[in-house]
Amino acid sequence: MNILVTGGLGAIGSWIVREVIAQGHTPIVFDSGPNRSLISDMSVEVVAWSVTSLTEVIDALRTHRIDRVIHAAALMPPECASFPARAVAVNVDGALTVFEAARLSDVDRVVTFSSKAVYGEIPAPYGFPDYEPLPESFRLAPNSVYSATKVMVEQLAAQVRRNSDLTILCLRLGTTYGPGKSRHGILSIHSQIIDAALAGAPLEITQGSDESTDLIFNGDVGRAAVLAATAKTPRHEVYNIGTGIGTRLGDFVAWVEAALPQAKIQVGAGLNYMLQEQPSYCVLDVGRAREDFGFGSCRVGPDGIAAYIDGVHRLGLQGGN
Ligand SMILES: NC(=O)c1ccc[n+]([C@@H]2O[C@H](COP(=O)([O-])OP(=O)(O)OC[C@H]3O[C@@H](n4cnc5c(N)ncnc54)[C@H](O)[C@@H]3O)[C@@H](O)[C@H]2O)c1
Repeated sequence: MNILVTGGLGAIGSWIVREVIAQGHTPIVFDSGPNRSLISDMSVEVVAWSVTSLTEVIDALRTHRIDRVIHAAALMPPECASFPARAVAVNVDGALTVFEAARLSDVDRVVTFSSKAVYGEIPAPYGFPDYEPLPESFRLAPNSVYSATKVMVEQLAAQVRRNSDLTILCLRLGTTYGPGKSRHGILSIHSQIIDAALAGAPLEITQGSDESTDLIFNGDVGRAAVLAATAKTPRHEVYNIGTGIGTRLGDFVAWVEAALPQAKIQVGAGLNYMLQEQPSYCVLDVGRAREDFGFGSCRVGPDGIAAYIDGVHRLGLQGGN
């Protein structure tokens, strides 16, 4: 299959591209950004256009005879908070443009990315101390510009599906980490820890070593996306994507220190390392993705950290970026 990966230069998109190739398909990257450092180990066609242009997306779909689209282009929470109008233009209008272009170009499936952020504040028993697996049926409570754009895209996707033959799958991601992710500021504490350790630079996190959350390596997110794009009969419209287990920040730091003895990381005790007003730490119920497209066997703990370090070295990145 020919698979268009929007946002294919990004922290997750680059792993999707790698996984598309690994699974025997042909990726075409569609990304308006200038930085190709995360795909420098691959020979891939890049279309440097914007998902906000219907004619550009249609042109790419038809020129490259695209069968499926994995839509990963988006603005992340800090930029959404600073520039709400731009967030709606890229995250909402951009997604709708991709859906419309796919519909008009006989593409039969789009996989798009949502977020656990759509659940907003996570109460007991889904947060500390029990972290019971949180199902997709949990109520939606967006509490930021970013999470509002993700809820809107999910709801628009449902409308488009009802009025056309296009299948759209929305993947709600847990907390992610991987090379390049440190660009995302406070959301990327796990990536910042590894990047600081690789550089032997000191990093102090004031609190949160006892907090757990569903932490997934971006290589596994890429695998989930390609499985979703190629699964025979996905039965749902929305899927949680995570490891299905909690990773405690204190344990994560200990694993990084074991892998990189030059690490100088200090983490205070307690919860809420991201200092969120409405804490969103949780473990996702990933049963749907396991049953519908065989997603599982994630690289948790030391395995994920080793894959991250390997990626940084393979790409020749400085400080993980
Ligand atoms: N925990 C979570 O819920 C979570 C975590 C990470 C990412 N995500 C989602 O996963 C997806 C991928 O995220 P990522 O981590 O790779 O982000 P990223 O910022 O690393 O990559 C996004 C890419 O989109 C590109 N892009 C931005 N605007 C564009 C436009 N108008 N046209 C074309 N390309 C454009 C950027 O150049 C960038 O390469 C996003 O939808 C994001 O919201 C969710």
